[in-house]
Amino acid sequence: MPELASKQTPPSEASQKDATQSRPSSAGSPSATGAPQYVITAENLTKRYGDVAAVDGISFSVPAGEAFGLLGPNGAGKSTTMKMIGGVSQRTSGNLTIMGLDPDQNGPEVRAHLGVVPQQDNLDEELKVRDNLLVYGRYFGLPMSYLKPKADELLEFAQLTDKAKSKVDALSGGMKRRLTIARSLINEPRILLLDEPTTGLDPQARHILWDRLFRLKEQGVTLILTTHYMDEAEQLCDRLIVVDKGKIMAEGSPASLIREYSTREVLELRFGSERNATVGAELEGIGERLETLPDRVLIYAHDGEAALEEVSARGLRPVTSLVRRSSLEDVFLRLTGRSLVD
Ligand SMILES: Nc1ncnc2c1ncn2[C@@H]1O[C@H](COP(=O)(O)OP(=O)(O)O)[C@@H](O)[C@H]1O
Ligand SMILES: [Mg+2]
Repeated sequence: MPELASKQTPPSEASQKDATQSRPSSAGSPSATGAPQYVITAENLTKRYGDVAAVDGISFSVPAGEAFGLLGPNGAGKSTTMKMIGGVSQRTSGNLTIMGLDPDQNGPEVRAHLGVVPQQDNLDEELKVRDNLLVYGRYFGLPMSYLKPKADELLEFAQLTDKAKSKVDALSGGMKRRLTIARSLINEPRILLLDEPTTGLDPQARHILWDRLFRLKEQGVTLILTTHYMDEAEQLCDRLIVVDKGKIMAEGSPASLIREYSTREVLELRFGSERNATVGAELEGIGERLETLPDRVLIYAHDGEAALEEVSARGLRPVTSLVRRSSLEDVFLRLTGRSLVD
């Protein structure tokens, strides 16, 4: 086994100190001393572009092995946060440590711990698929004797073995995304940053990708991912922060956020575009809360079927009705009054 870039840095004293100084939290796997070991801590992390606070004083900690999500709409500050973690964008203020290291002070060391999948694929279109992995590995100073078998292993993992000799521009969007993920794993990182890993992919391609990310999680890789897909956040994240306009609106597991901010079920009613806005008064008192959207009315209730019976009992006849479980979309709507994807 060759020496890997990611293993050249022994766990620093700073990281030990950081873990024990962190505020107590129920999250995280306990270390020998019983304190959670955080691989990332952000305190009041802020990034300004002129007058715009792209990231406006956010704080969070991520224990090793967790799948941690940043869920928010376009412009929320997700990519800016990822770039600061990845050490490619300097913060304006606040504290940030990755494995106990400050990415602004120890850029190369921090990057050696990380795999990065940026929002836009930046593969070398001129090179063949396998060569993309080899050339990238050379940036880390990894020897060919290590890189060649590793590239083959990663192509297998990314289900791209039969594309090894293809040009990158011949790949589908989903294949390019998987190749970018394979490339990010070349240095066996313990932390993987994924900025909108599945945006723009069709459902089948997304599911293949989710499956690969699950496997990495099973191997103990810490996943930090951004998304504006609530189903992706629910599928992949152990814990997440809901971000909007550079600020954290809520934090927790998908289930706990839904418990805290929504009801167990939601009854969706469509009365036709003319009536949705006016029917609200007639629905008053059904369920715990009512939300009127342009195309439908949402009734938040513990028991959606019972709520629907009450709607019928009042003589109201919606064009369509649907009872579903609450989702993170409902949480976001509750917190911001807006839909995640406009
Ligand atoms: N390089 C930049 N210069 C100026 N403004 C920027 C820059 N990068 C991002 N922003 C602004 O910061 C905010 C957050 O952007 P971003 O982090 O890309 O959001 P997200 O990834 O959640 O869509 C947006 O208002 C965006 O316009
Ligand atoms: Mg972004």
